[in-house]
Amino acid sequence: MDESSLPTQPSTSPTDVSTDPLNPQPKAWTDADLADLHAREDKAERVRAMFAAIARSYDLNNRVHSLWRDQAWRREAVRAAAVQAGDEVLDCACGTGDLTLAFAKTGAIAVIGLDFTTEMIDLARVKTDRLAEHDPALGQRVRYLQGDAQDLPFEECSFDVVSIAFGIRNVQDPERAIREFFRVLRPGGRLVILEFDRPGFAPVRWCNDFYCGWVMPRTATLLSRDRSGAYKYLPRSVGSFMDSRSLGTLMGRVGFTRVARKPLTLGVCVRSLGHKPAPDQTQDR
Ligand SMILES: C[S@@+](CC[C@H](N)C(=O)[O-])C[C@H]1O[C@@H](n2cnc3c(N)ncnc32)[C@H](O)[C@@H]1O
Repeated sequence: MDESSLPTQPSTSPTDVSTDPLNPQPKAWTDADLADLHAREDKAERVRAMFAAIARSYDLNNRVHSLWRDQAWRREAVRAAAVQAGDEVLDCACGTGDLTLAFAKTGAIAVIGLDFTTEMIDLARVKTDRLAEHDPALGQRVRYLQGDAQDLPFEECSFDVVSIAFGIRNVQDPERAIREFFRVLRPGGRLVILEFDRPGFAPVRWCNDFYCGWVMPRTATLLSRDRSGAYKYLPRSVGSFMDSRSLGTLMGRVGFTRVARKPLTLGVCVRSLGHKPAPDQTQDR
């Protein structure tokens, strides 16, 4: 597809821009905005501004604040997707490309990372180019595109695996995105989703709520020198998003079968898996 035809970074409206002349970062989220963040009409624009602002420190914050578990979660997503030699993979909301690259190390013949934030994809490309210096074939398997997970620029039945890690919570309309994933998957294809959840066991949930709601917003904001409100957004967006059971129900409603969830690291993260049925498997729920 022609990348130049894709929408470019939206211009920030006056209310999105910090009034501090020494810090022109977009102000993506205020406390008032966070009250109804998933319902906001401008959620996508604010999410994009936020990821543009934190892109450079995104990987470091991921490692530190997941206590170095985030790459293990991505490996579990890849394992669950059961990639076969020759499969084609689409990693939606690929960000800086960690899951895209994990898929590129399987037998997949082609892996596309798609995201709507240019700053995140630029970093994914740099990371991929660096790996390709030692493994040129890996570089040839991976391609990045700017695009919207809710309106995928692909024909139906184009991929064997579609993935989205820590992205479905951020899209404006998660159901629309999941319908798109179903459309572009081939029959027998797998959708794998990684997303944060609130652990079921109360003492673990209280500790996690304190960590995510109080500790992490401060330390992550310091690490990234962020003024976009990104690390206040994270716990608020997890707490007000559907839980992993509801996500599984949604996947089933869209048409996925054999929907399964696996809690990771005491349930702070959940890996969800669903299959697009082959024509003779539509009853296989
Ligand atoms: C938390 S990051 C996850 C990045 C990556 N998947 C990972 O595992 O680290 C969420 C990403 O979702 C992207 N995103 C949010 N909504 C999107 C949409 N509608 N279409 C494409 N990308 C989207 C953001 O730009 C951001 O890069």
